[in-house]
Amino acid sequence: MGRKKITVVGAGNVGATAAHWAAQKELGDIVLVDIIEGMPQGKALDLMEARPVEGFDVTITGTTSYGDTAGSDVVIITSGLPRKPGMSRDDLLQKNKEIVASVTKAITAQSPDCVIIVVSNPLDTMSYVAKAVSGFPKNRVMGMAGVLDTARFKVFVAMELNVSVEDIQALVLGGHGDSMVPLSRYATVGGIPLEQLLPPEKIEQLVARTRKAGGEIVALLKTGSAFYSPSASAVQMAEAILKDKKRILPCCAYLEGEYGLSDIYFGVPVKLGSEGIEQVLEVSLTEAEQELVNQSGKAVAESIASLKI
Ligand SMILES: NC(=O)c1ccc[n+]([C@@H]2O[C@H](COP(=O)([O-])OP(=O)(O)OC[C@H]3O[C@@H](n4cnc5c(N)ncnc54)[C@H](O)[C@@H]3O)[C@@H](O)[C@H]2O)c1
Repeated sequence: MGRKKITVVGAGNVGATAAHWAAQKELGDIVLVDIIEGMPQGKALDLMEARPVEGFDVTITGTTSYGDTAGSDVVIITSGLPRKPGMSRDDLLQKNKEIVASVTKAITAQSPDCVIIVVSNPLDTMSYVAKAVSGFPKNRVMGMAGVLDTARFKVFVAMELNVSVEDIQALVLGGHGDSMVPLSRYATVGGIPLEQLLPPEKIEQLVARTRKAGGEIVALLKTGSAFYSPSASAVQMAEAILKDKKRILPCCAYLEGEYGLSDIYFGVPVKLGSEGIEQVLEVSLTEAEQELVNQSGKAVAESIASLKI
């Protein structure tokens, strides 16, 4: 019985940190791929040398050759350009489309049975590219956004109430961008509806901060974008798949009629297990929430249409 194998494409901030989280959790052997000769090898060796200190027993290999990725169970795609201050996610569209398409082709040639988790932005559109290029069934191609957006909302709620993040449940729907739809009606703190603990104006402020949370980090960092929480979120999804946990997590999934949307990738709650996305869960929405979903869906559909796939 061999170990599970995880490939992370792109050994930059998100990719290398994903390898770090995944190694520490001993999810399997890890292959870190990049186009810059020496960089993935160096980061992988550095992580290997942390093993005796941290006590994790997996192998981390750095490479520029896709042959080393053969037989991967899960592939996390982080290759691409990050956002710079003032740059929208959609500015990245064309460049990252080429990168994600070429990477997907190379990955699927080596690992025809893998589950793909896309992280590269613009996320919903890049997930669409990965599905189109791979020809994989929809359950085996997904994007990471909702876990991160939800984590950010949970943190802002926890900071506001001065309570543990562990006790907060929340759900964010929609495209990964300013049009995301945090469903504060579904948020609870230790089982208590958030609406009973905070006034509507305060919740609205936290929702607004969640929508702009990626940009808040970009503005602070000045170069590059968030990477600790994005990589942790992608690894949480990988863990759910590799361990067949059947977790209910908000993920960017291919929709065929759910929430009134078709032929697009969109953030919705799903069941994640060894088959990838095993089910899309449809929650009931108010008219106002459905309207926000429609607007977010329109923004994503326009971005996908501009790709001319
Ligand atoms: N979905 C999300 O919530 C979310 C969050 C954060 C970042 N992101 C996105 O993730 C991506 C990576 O961000 P980052 O901060 O790690 O950027 P980064 O610049 O630190 O790393 C990107 C890496 O990709 C590599 N790369 C470029 N082209 C490649 C190719 N063809 N094959 C293999 N590797 C290639 C680069 O050499 C670089 O090392 C960006 O698109 C960013 O916008 C998404």
